Amino acid sequence: MCGIVGYIGHRDAYPIITNGLKRLEYRGYDSAGIALYNGNGLELFKTKGKVAQLEVISKKRSSNAHIGIGHTRWATHGVPSDINAHPHTSNSGDLVLIHNGIIENYNSLKIALENKGFHFESDTDTEVLVNLIEYVQKTEGHKLGKAVQLALKEVVGAYAIAVIDNKKPNEIVVAKLGSPLAIGIGNDEFFIASDASPFIEYTKNAIYLEDEQMAIIRLEKGLRIRKIKDDSLVSPVIQELHFSLEQIEKGGYDHFMLKEIFEQPKAIKDTYRGRLVGKEGLIKMAGVDDHLDKFLNADRLIIVACGTSWHAGLVAEYIFENLARIPVEVEYASEFRYRNPVISSRDVVIAISQSGETADTLAAIKLAKSHGAFVFGVCNVVGSTIARETNAGSYTHAGPEIGVASTKAFTTQITILTLIALKLGRLKGTLEEKQYIETVRGLEAIPEKVSIALKENDAVEAIAKVYNQAKNCLYLGRGYNFPVALEGALKLKEISYIHAEGYPAAEMKHGPIALIDENMPVIVIATKKGHYDKIVSNIQEIKSRKGKIIAIVSQGDQTVRELADHVIEVPETLECLAPLLTTIPLQLLSYHIAVQLNRNVDQPRNLAKSVTVE
Ligand code: F6R
Repeated sequence: MCGIVGYIGHRDAYPIITNGLKRLEYRGYDSAGIALYNGNGLELFKTKGKVAQLEVISKKRSSNAHIGIGHTRWATHGVPSDINAHPHTSNSGDLVLIHNGIIENYNSLKIALENKGFHFESDTDTEVLVNLIEYVQKTEGHKLGKAVQLALKEVVGAYAIAVIDNKKPNEIVVAKLGSPLAIGIGNDEFFIASDASPFIEYTKNAIYLEDEQMAIIRLEKGLRIRKIKDDSLVSPVIQELHFSLEQIEKGGYDHFMLKEIFEQPKAIKDTYRGRLVGKEGLIKMAGVDDHLDKFLNADRLIIVACGTSWHAGLVAEYIFENLARIPVEVEYASEFRYRNPVISSRDVVIAISQSGETADTLAAIKLAKSHGAFVFGVCNVVGSTIARETNAGSYTHAGPEIGVASTKAFTTQITILTLIALKLGRLKGTLEEKQYIETVRGLEAIPEKVSIALKENDAVEAIAKVYNQAKNCLYLGRGYNFPVALEGALKLKEISYIHAEGYPAAEMKHGPIALIDENMPVIVIATKKGHYDKIVSNIQEIKSRKGKIIAIVSQGDQTVRELADHVIEVPETLECLAPLLTTIPLQLLSYHIAVQLNRNVDQPRNLAKSVTVE
């Protein structure tokens, strides 16, 4: 994780870097630091805590600097502290470096450097890397770029780095393996960042470095990209960015999470816009259309993902099996990659990832590809590593998701996967035309229905007030709503720090029912279509053990209303589309509880948006 920002050009580097770091705090916020070349030498400021704290301690910086690098950290090696904060300096004080990733062989490198007289102040792997570069530079007399290249050949692990040399302060050297690195191209100026958000107001042109590439970026002379392995030159591919500054700001909401929850009607529409065509409900998806044979002949689909994206995969399992009759397995990417999974060239692997950078999902993709499987990506971040590593894919087009807790990513991932299942179901003939059209129309009606569900916001806030002191919560659902229960529980624990469990409602009697007493809030998803009578029985079981019931019900429901302590209504829809609506009140409930508990909703403790370490 961690976020990196750099600037070289004619403007004042400081505000570009600090504002950029704030936008990247979703990647980690344990410490922050900045190094600036002010014309006479390097100035370095770093501190435990957030960028706001960095701004306090860096007030005394001397003057405008036109070159600089900054970092916001998610701690891996060494506790969050001033000393472990980046940038890290080499022993001579000449080199400063920022790093996102992990150097796995840092310990052996450290011992070797110590034997050569180097000393270390921090516990980080990054300080080892900057000194390794210095060692190569000094002993072999290389320029910075060459020294970085040779040092990186010794490194095992993942990195996106940026380095400045105090003795040659007209260049920044960057390199990438595993962690993302974007270079914004302006007029005689360059921006470096973990994603394009820090420089979107300055340029819409960006280069995304590929793995094992480095770039030497020089004032006036421009940039040169080389392969680290063989030093060959690479022609830069400049991409046009399609998002705006407005999209990554809060737009009047108190938190990004709330903004993103309320953006869902638009995000879902943007996901199917241009893909659902005409009155006959044709589904056009280039990523699928170009590889139809793979999907239609697949023995099975294997979905790999983590966290919320894994929950979207679970919903998709129900959808694909029901609509397209293709067997589906849903795997935690982190488990899949370390098992010895049976994969064949007749499997289609679908990797789901909002960020497109999740290390475990990426590793699962590589494993699947090495076994000959066709790998399809469902990502939100355009140009992300997973989007590039997969054989084909579809973007969700949800727009930037900044809040650490995933919200619109979940509903838009389900939307994409529903479109694919519908398309395959129609082509395979597993879906009758009437059901196909009905589902397509149902999907088109979802944005409006999400807007209606969002109108319950005040009611949900009032319910949150009743339960915000709870120590535990149980979430129950059946069928399509079972993964929604898991997702509701994840949302609550990650932003409010209240322990929560999601369960298939019928499993309750096999264990969790023992937890139920008058202090246990139980959130039950009890929409009309699908196992309704069964879930009403589950509610009665909870009631007779004095549990407090918050039920998510279909509009107009009377039966559950009489049993539950609170009900939150969502509009009726088809059973397979229910998760797109039932998840809304659960997102709002977690949000309000977290706000009422004064938690940092957008940046919950210990978490980061983009998990680029395993
Ligand atoms: C939960 C959450 C995480 C992510 C997970 C995967 O709200 O945000 O569980 O869903 O880290 O991230 P992506 O989808 O970027 O691969």
